[in-house]
Amino acid sequence: MSASESLQAEDAYFASNAPPKQLAAHTALAEAFISQHAAANRRVVLVTSGGTTVPLEKNTVRFIDNFSAGTRGATSAEYFLSAGYAVIFLHRQFSLLPYSRHYSHSTDCLLDLLEEDSDGRVAVRPSDSDRILDVLRKYQSARRNNMLLLLPFVTIGDYLHELRAVARLMAPLGSSGLLYLAAAVSDFFVPPERLSEHKIQSTNIVEKLYPQDAPSPSPQIEDEETFDNFDASPRVPRSKRLIIDLDPVPKFLKSLVEGWAPLGMIVSFKLETDPRILVHKARYSLERYQHHLVIGNLLSTRKWEVVFVAPNREDQWLRVARHGGWGDAEGRPLRPDEVPEGDPEQEIEALIIPAVAKLHDDHIAKSSSAERK
Ligand code: PMT
Repeated sequence: MSASESLQAEDAYFASNAPPKQLAAHTALAEAFISQHAAANRRVVLVTSGGTTVPLEKNTVRFIDNFSAGTRGATSAEYFLSAGYAVIFLHRQFSLLPYSRHYSHSTDCLLDLLEEDSDGRVAVRPSDSDRILDVLRKYQSARRNNMLLLLPFVTIGDYLHELRAVARLMAPLGSSGLLYLAAAVSDFFVPPERLSEHKIQSTNIVEKLYPQDAPSPSPQIEDEETFDNFDASPRVPRSKRLIIDLDPVPKFLKSLVEGWAPLGMIVSFKLETDPRILVHKARYSLERYQHHLVIGNLLSTRKWEVVFVAPNREDQWLRVARHGGWGDAEGRPLRPDEVPEGDPEQEIEALIIPAVAKLHDDHIAKSSSAERK
């Protein structure tokens, strides 16, 4: 696709997909946040996190979703804060958040960490106090210093509108802006003109009740099939199946690199399930979009290993210790001397963020020297 064709696809997408209601409010918050930190000469990172949904109805009852809980994004945001970055956290509503992720309903339920003391007051169990205190201090420091801005999205449309708005606000930061795209972004969606207004029915009840859009319901709807669509047969007739017809979502990385935030450093993630193609797809993405870093990860090993694919350097694998077997990029088991030793509790983001920050230093230095010439 040529540059003008992709610009047209982008314009058409944004013109036909309405922005989220909160866009203006979020933009105002992001603008104030960015100018506060730019005035303090602080680096700002936009971290995207969690999965986008694809609604199947305008009054949405059903939608397509994906697996991402937002672990990568929420964990990365904490390490960016520790590294001194101000963080805009563009995340799927109700997905994991920095700091509170340690005590989500599925990991450590907060109630299990509390007890009642002899005076009938609620207290933290002494055995858990130290680790909670550590997280609490970091969380409170981020809040006190206004270092973390939380912006939620739900649908793919919300996400793209929000991403474009925040990226454009970050453009004046030049090379000190960092965009770290860890969200799991839908590749396909139902365009608005094909979206059903109301909940998709499993019967033709609406047509039967209101033949030819009659204003009042028809009295004769005794046909049992209308109300009972239970069908034990695996050979369900086509007329009874829900067939979803999806269009591709335009790739927006090109717009990001060329238009929205052209001087910032852009890091994208590449997710695959087949180890044989991960590095190839990551390199292809880098060459196609001409950004600065692709971090490749496999669904099954994403918490323990990632690969950095960047221009003019060798691919770099980062790994932390974990229980269980290891595979390399081709799916072959690692030799014992290749398996990283160390704390099995260590999070891979503890390696990813310092390495990204180092590349960001280089990016800033390179941009400054180019400006001086
Ligand atoms: O939340 P966790 O469970 O911790 O999982 C983290 C993660 C696996 C989701 C994360 O590490 C990750 O890999 N995120 C990227 C997932 C993804 O969207 O991969 P992709 O191969 O579909 O897309 C690659 C890149 O293209 C992404 O940077 C995406 O932002 C971009 N993209 C995607 C769709 C689209 N229409 N336009 C795009 O530009």
